Amino acid sequence: MDLTTVTRTYENTCPPSSSLGTLHLKGGHAQVREGQLTIRPVIVSGDSSFGAEVSGVDWSRPVPEDIVQQLIKLQDTYAVLIFRKTGLDNERHIAFSRQLGKKLEINPFFYGRENDRVGEPLLWDVGNINIDGTLVQPSQRRWQHSLGNALWHTDSSYHHQRSKYSLLLSHPTTHVPDRPASKTYTHFSDTRHAYSSLPLSTKLLLEPLIVEHDLWHSRRLASPVTYSVPLPHELAAKPPAYHRLVQTAPDGRKTLYLAAHAKRIVGWGMKESQKLIWELIEWCAREEFVFSLEWGEEGGDMVWWDNRQSMHRANPYTTEMTARDVRRATVVDDGPLAFGVSEQEKREAGWKPEQAVTVDV
Ligand SMILES: [Fe+2]
Repeated sequence: MDLTTVTRTYENTCPPSSSLGTLHLKGGHAQVREGQLTIRPVIVSGDSSFGAEVSGVDWSRPVPEDIVQQLIKLQDTYAVLIFRKTGLDNERHIAFSRQLGKKLEINPFFYGRENDRVGEPLLWDVGNINIDGTLVQPSQRRWQHSLGNALWHTDSSYHHQRSKYSLLLSHPTTHVPDRPASKTYTHFSDTRHAYSSLPLSTKLLLEPLIVEHDLWHSRRLASPVTYSVPLPHELAAKPPAYHRLVQTAPDGRKTLYLAAHAKRIVGWGMKESQKLIWELIEWCAREEFVFSLEWGEEGGDMVWWDNRQSMHRANPYTTEMTARDVRRATVVDDGPLAFGVSEQEKREAGWKPEQAVTVDV
C-alpha cells in the first residue's frame, strides 16, 4: 500500500489561539470542592465532562488510600487529571502509580541503567534530552520514533494486555536555553463524547469491529523512510494486538478505542481500514472533543490520563525546541477488557493467520 496517502503530520504550532478547546484551564468552569480536593473541569458539555485540574493532594508523603480511591472516581469521570507542581521524583512517581493497579509496564526499550538517562525500567524517557545531555537531533532514530507520538493515539493499544493509565511527570531541567523556553502542550481527545455524537447508523457499523493495533504502523505513518522496515529487535519487542473498536468506559458510557497504531479492521482490506480509522480519528479531533494542556515551565506538573477512554498527542520535535524532561509511568489494565479479543473472535471476524506476518509498505 502507498503510505503517502495516509501519512500524517502535524505542525508544531498547536494549540491555535482561536480554538474553543484551548486552555480552558485558565478560566471557564466553576471549581468544585470535594473534601480536601479542589476540582476545576476543563470541558463540560451537557452530561459530558472531560479533563480536570485537581489540587489539594499532599504529594510530599504517600497518598492515603481514601484519597487514591477518590482520585480514581474522579478519573473515571474526567479521564484526564492534571496536578500542578507536585514536586514528585522518580521514586514517588512510581510509588503513586503502583497504587493505581496491579502492575506497571516495563519499558521494552530499556537496555540497562548505564544506557538510560532516567535509569529506571518502570519509566519511559519521553523528553528530548540524550544521555550525554545534548538535545535529540533529527538524524537520530529516537527523533524519528518520537514523530509517531505527535499522531493521535492511546498508549500501548498495541499490547495484548493493554494499559489502563499513563502518568506523565515533568521534571525541572538544568539546561540554560539560549532562547526563551519553548512552550509545550499535550492535546487530549474525549473518545466517549466523540462516540456518543456519532450518528446511530455509524455506531451500528462500528459496533462489531475488531482492530489490529501495531506500533510500527504508527511509526511508519509519521516517519515512512526510517520505519519503512522496522529493525528485527523492534518487531520482536512489539507484535500487533487486537482490540474491539467500541468499548465500555469505566463510567459505563461507550467509547472508541482508537489510535494511530490502528492498522487494519480485521476482515477488511488495508486501504478501506485506514480510511475508516482516520475518518474516526479526525472526528475525535474535532475541537468540541479536544483540549490542549499547557505544561508549566518549572517542572513538577503531572498529567494522569485513562487510555481506555481518551486519545492524546504530543507536538512533534523541532530543531528550535529547548530542553524538556518528561517521564511516563504506565499502569497495566487489570479490568475485564484488558486482553482484547480471543483467537476465536478474531477468526470469526475474518482474521487469517497469514495476516500476522504481513508488512504493508
Ligand atoms: Fe502517548
